[in-house]
Amino acid sequence: MTRPNIKQHLAFGQGPHICIGAALARQQARVILERLLAPFDGFSIPPETDIRMTPSWVMNAVEELPVTFH
Ligand code: HEM
Repeated sequence: MTRPNIKQHLAFGQGPHICIGAALARQQARVILERLLAPFDGFSIPPETDIRMTPSWVMNAVEELPVTFH
């Protein structure tokens, strides 16, 4: 999240076939996150959390992510 090249990712592909719905997807995510987080001051991941990635050569995904809302 804090890396300097955070905008250089492949979530929406790249080049001539880059996702045509990226702007809509970003807007939807922004609305959902704003609504979801509005009642809270913030959230955190418990420090002892063992973040496991799903083993796959196709897609990186977190298996589960416990979140504490404050
Ligand atoms: C979080 C949501 C989304 C993600 C992660 C995502 C991801 C992607 C990726 C990675 C590609 C490139 C596939 C490739 O290189 O072959 C792609 C293409 C595409 N996406 Fe999305 N997408 C999302 C939402 C949407 C939405 C909301 C729409 C339409 C309303 C959409 C329509 C398309 C279309 C039509 C293409 C093909 C573009 C082309 O081949 O020129 N996507 N998407």
